[in-house]
Amino acid sequence: MANPHPHFLIITFPAQGHINPALELAKRLIGVGADVTFATTIHAKSRLVKNPTVDGLRFSTFSDGQEEGVKRGPNDLPVFQRLASENLSELIMASANEGRPISCLIYSIVIPGAAELARSFNIPSAFLWIQPATVLDIYYYYFNGFGDLIRSKSSDPSFSIELPGLPSLSRQDLPSFFVGSDQNQENHALAAFQKHLEILEQEENPKALVNTFDALEPEALRAVEKLKLTAVGPLVPSGFSDGKDASDTPSGGDLSDGSRDYMEWLKSKPESTVVYVSFGSISMFSMQQMEEIARGLLESGRPFLWLIRAKENGEENKEEDKLSCQEELEKQGMLIQWCSQMEVLSHPSLGCFVTHCGWNSSIESLASGVPMIAFPQWADQGTNTKLIKDVWKTGVRLMVNEEEIVTSDELKR
Ligand code: UDX
Repeated sequence: MANPHPHFLIITFPAQGHINPALELAKRLIGVGADVTFATTIHAKSRLVKNPTVDGLRFSTFSDGQEEGVKRGPNDLPVFQRLASENLSELIMASANEGRPISCLIYSIVIPGAAELARSFNIPSAFLWIQPATVLDIYYYYFNGFGDLIRSKSSDPSFSIELPGLPSLSRQDLPSFFVGSDQNQENHALAAFQKHLEILEQEENPKALVNTFDALEPEALRAVEKLKLTAVGPLVPSGFSDGKDASDTPSGGDLSDGSRDYMEWLKSKPESTVVYVSFGSISMFSMQQMEEIARGLLESGRPFLWLIRAKENGEENKEEDKLSCQEELEKQGMLIQWCSQMEVLSHPSLGCFVTHCGWNSSIESLASGVPMIAFPQWADQGTNTKLIKDVWKTGVRLMVNEEEIVTSDELKR
């Protein structure tokens, strides 16, 4: 008998910042009566700490070799993309054979060809954008009339630009792939964005689902009529409030595990005092920068919870080995390698969040009512900082010195 529920197939990149919003979208679709198959790598699935036990959510896994300890290198993205596409075809056919045909494919930017593949099976598809609508608009404008201007001014520190429907943007507010030092990333990333925007434009009825909400980006959601952006956010795990232990919450997105001692530590601190410091799952800092952050935190006199991610196996130079004042830090604050971020942000003892302004961290902080101290690194983070500081006025931005370092004094300020 045919499956009475619409059946969504979701595929995303197996990194924390992609998995979290995609899983949250899956839960919401299930909440309105759909079935969802979530396609990911065997390695990512095995690392999901709290396996989501939501009825109607199925996983389908494929190998990218990582489960056998093969570490993905910077040039292995095409391999992942090929394997993901092959898996999608097989899954779509298998689901039809089982009487659970796929009703819609939802894919992220790193899966090129997903829309064409869906079309070849006569299945509608939708593109899930895990950054703000503002950033998608900026990419659109870059490829539609403004690219030459932006490129010609990319090294001018006083450059600013007015794009229809968006706030005035200075050089530091633009995605780093246009103006930053991300030369290696630049071509690949821009080519991927261009391809996806072309696909969206070709679609008769384009569907770009954006992890935002109407009141947050009312103009950006409508700035480029052709894109027909649909807000589906905030895709932030719910059920965390007042610091209650949420270990049973079926959020299931964490790709790491470890001690939860930080929850006890948070409980021991007065309300609205703790500085939470985390720079997401990708950014890494120089030793000089780490020492400045450490001294700034110590001199602030505030309790702090500082997430210093361990590098993955095989990489040298662990960041926690870099700090000269480890003992002093541990008297005043707590150093951790991973936490359940929404639980931390929802805790009553939280005072503010020193963040790289990845989009997930930004909206999780907004959803928790925690003000931000922005320390953007790359990609969309400069644009997110602009929105946080000047549009929503929910945070401040740290300024770098002439060596591109945020000093301890600046952090203390
Ligand atoms: C990447 C890009 O760097 C970012 O610019 C883009 O907006 C999204 O994709 P990432 O750097 O990982 O994301 O940051 P972010 O978007 O903030 O996502 C990190 C996710 O991991 C958040 O959902 C956060 O809650 C979660 N996390 C992080 C934890 O649950 N625990 C941690 O200890 C650290």
